[in-house]
Amino acid sequence: MGFPKIRMRRLRSSGSMRRIVRETTLSVNDLVYPLFVRDGSGLKEPIKSMSDCFHFSSDTVADEAGEVAALGIPAVLLFGLPDKKDDTGSQAWAEDGVVQRSIKEIKKAAPELLIITDICLCAYTKSGHCGVIKDGRIDNDATCELLAKVALSHAQAGADIVAPSDMMDGRVSYIREALEKNGFYDTAIMSYAAKYASAFYGPFRDAAGSAPAQDLAGTALADRKTYQMDPANADQALAEIALDIEEGADIVMVKPALCYLDIIRRAKDRFDCPIAAYNVSGEYMMVNCAANAGLLEKESAMLEVLTSIKRAGADIIITYFAKKVAKKLKSS
Ligand code: PBG
Repeated sequence: MGFPKIRMRRLRSSGSMRRIVRETTLSVNDLVYPLFVRDGSGLKEPIKSMSDCFHFSSDTVADEAGEVAALGIPAVLLFGLPDKKDDTGSQAWAEDGVVQRSIKEIKKAAPELLIITDICLCAYTKSGHCGVIKDGRIDNDATCELLAKVALSHAQAGADIVAPSDMMDGRVSYIREALEKNGFYDTAIMSYAAKYASAFYGPFRDAAGSAPAQDLAGTALADRKTYQMDPANADQALAEIALDIEEGADIVMVKPALCYLDIIRRAKDRFDCPIAAYNVSGEYMMVNCAANAGLLEKESAMLEVLTSIKRAGADIIITYFAKKVAKKLKSS
């Protein structure tokens, strides 16, 4: 003997060798870039809690979308920040709401770019909750009716894919029915199917002004744990995903991504529809903050994170890094 019979290092011996045996390849086609739009005009304001991210208005977001499309990224995901909030979140389905106007502007500037819209009430309600409150509780079915109105209004404005992120039971059915009844047969639903009550949404809630209201602290409504999933559960995530597919979802999402790579893998093995994963704001800022502190190299960490999400089984990756990766992939 005296020598290793199999030398695994042979397949790592050069760049080309590594390339030819590589199992996972990140592509620009996998990416979705989130965009934040608010009322007003001429806006492009840096978001304090999220590096390299901006608040746009419906006019300026069209330029940004054009840039995203030129990079070859297939889709954007829109989040709206209305000036006016109320108890039911009525700005969310207003015909001239900020998302509805932005969709039209983006379609003019970049017709081939897919527009996905976040369907939720949390940025639109005074309570900051994803649903309406009745007798001190989130009223599931009343919320579903409103979410269906929001989804329909986005479809009417031209959205290609609606993405409910509220975690109410049955909302995909309500949305699918509203779309079908109104002739929107081709509007796809990407449901946030397994969405966890995660600490990693912190920077986003700052950016979207969507944290549960301060005056709810200490009550049962202080957080989103009665609707978002317990991070300790995995089987339940598969049950959530199965239900959403049954109700008519075309694409299902696991969110966040990094702490839930096991869920992404199990979903990929079990279901035949495309699996999306959301590399959320807190995951994004962990990399940025560590890199800015000189602790790790940003681009390599970014690629490692996104490759791991793809390797776990994600077909679609929603990430604030999308533009940066697209540029990187173009140049390499
Ligand atoms: C709204 C929503 C949230 C995110 C996307 N849609 C936050 C939340 O549930 O509080 C988080 C995205 C991110 O952290 O990047 N329901």
